[in-house]
Amino acid sequence: MKFLAQPAGALTGEIRVPGDKSMSHRSVMLGSLAEGVTRVHGFLEGEDALATVAAFRAMGVRIEGPTNGELTIHGVGLRGLRAPEGPLDMGNSGTSMRLLSGLLAGQTFDSTLVGDGSLMKRPMGRVITPLEKMGASISSAEEGRPPLHIKGGRTLTGIHYDLPIASAQVKSCVLLAGLIADGKTSVTEPGPTRDHTERMLRGFGYTVEYTAGVISVEGGGCLQAADIDIPADISSAAFFLVGASIAPGSDLLLKHVGMNPTRTGVLNILQLMGADIEIIDPREVGGEPVADLRVRHAPLKGINIPEEFVPLAIDEFPALFIAAACAEGTTVLSGAEELRVKESDRIASMAKGLTDLGIVNHPTPDGIVIEGGSMGTATVETFDDHRIAMSFAIASLRSTGPISILDCDHVATSFPGFAELANGVGLKLDYQ
Ligand code: S3P
Repeated sequence: MKFLAQPAGALTGEIRVPGDKSMSHRSVMLGSLAEGVTRVHGFLEGEDALATVAAFRAMGVRIEGPTNGELTIHGVGLRGLRAPEGPLDMGNSGTSMRLLSGLLAGQTFDSTLVGDGSLMKRPMGRVITPLEKMGASISSAEEGRPPLHIKGGRTLTGIHYDLPIASAQVKSCVLLAGLIADGKTSVTEPGPTRDHTERMLRGFGYTVEYTAGVISVEGGGCLQAADIDIPADISSAAFFLVGASIAPGSDLLLKHVGMNPTRTGVLNILQLMGADIEIIDPREVGGEPVADLRVRHAPLKGINIPEEFVPLAIDEFPALFIAAACAEGTTVLSGAEELRVKESDRIASMAKGLTDLGIVNHPTPDGIVIEGGSMGTATVETFDDHRIAMSFAIASLRSTGPISILDCDHVATSFPGFAELANGVGLKLDYQ
């Protein structure tokens, strides 16, 4: 599928973007391992989260739905998974592969994890290393790439692991392995990363301790089925936060957005750039903060992005680069080498498309320098990366001519219905 994005005017109206991807994955994982029946509302019916559903079905878990974001999971308990008949296909989803590795490392059966072309190139050594320290046996292709072959029948022992990179996926992998390990498993992080695993474990009645920067779980407990209410994904909202900020005349209300403080870096960065974002009716839903966000057009200025915001906005940089392209002056990002190992090398992918659109930019090993300017017309590549596709769609709010965006199928991994929803508030996307 291709998008043809015609120059558009303002973004106006009210929308609720689909459910949070990170929480959707975790709801299936923890619901499957719980005792009893878990009901999930607001589940993201995107391909990544559906890959997690398919994996647990393949391991004998009965899951009904999703229908209109409702999922019913008949939990089998921490030791109730059954051997899958073949390899588990995680599609495009790094979260599924990394978190499942942790859950599978301590099972009685062997398992194999595979994915699509992008996922098969992504680094898994970062989860293999701590899992092996716990006693797991995992083989991979060269340099820790998938497929991962995980040996069953290993007894895991709790460890303390100092995370070498700020990664919620690695943290979650180790903590989830800790649920079936002997003794205590603990981690420290170089900086805060999204804490949905810790919050949701508590929501399922599992004790997660947090003392002096150390997060720990004791193995051998039990998860109790829960009702999970998933808010709208701030990472999907980010396209509209940027879009409404850059498009003159915009006034857009984004409903029920997840406002977990480990995810709100995009708001902090946009606000530093001068964005006008009002946080309305902040509330807590099922252990996660939520709010409505009203965003109006405002002139943006280039900034040096504080490095402490990087892990808190890690998925939002492609959209933020469009904000930087529309800002007055220079925006500098550093400390973000992780962007090079996402669904695509997001520094290179965005640099290429921005250059094609006439925006001067200089990629660096761990970031990019972007000079604000005027975007023209171009055909841009997405490198099969959903967030690159949606970022260039939003760019059409300020481009002087149409932007043709190649290979947009992967948008469905995180944001099914993106084009329809975006057109409903003012974008002009044709898709074929
Ligand atoms: C995620 C963590 C982040 C993020 C990814 C989802 C998660 O990855 O980029 O989209 O759900 O834990 P890292 O932990 O590798 O930074």
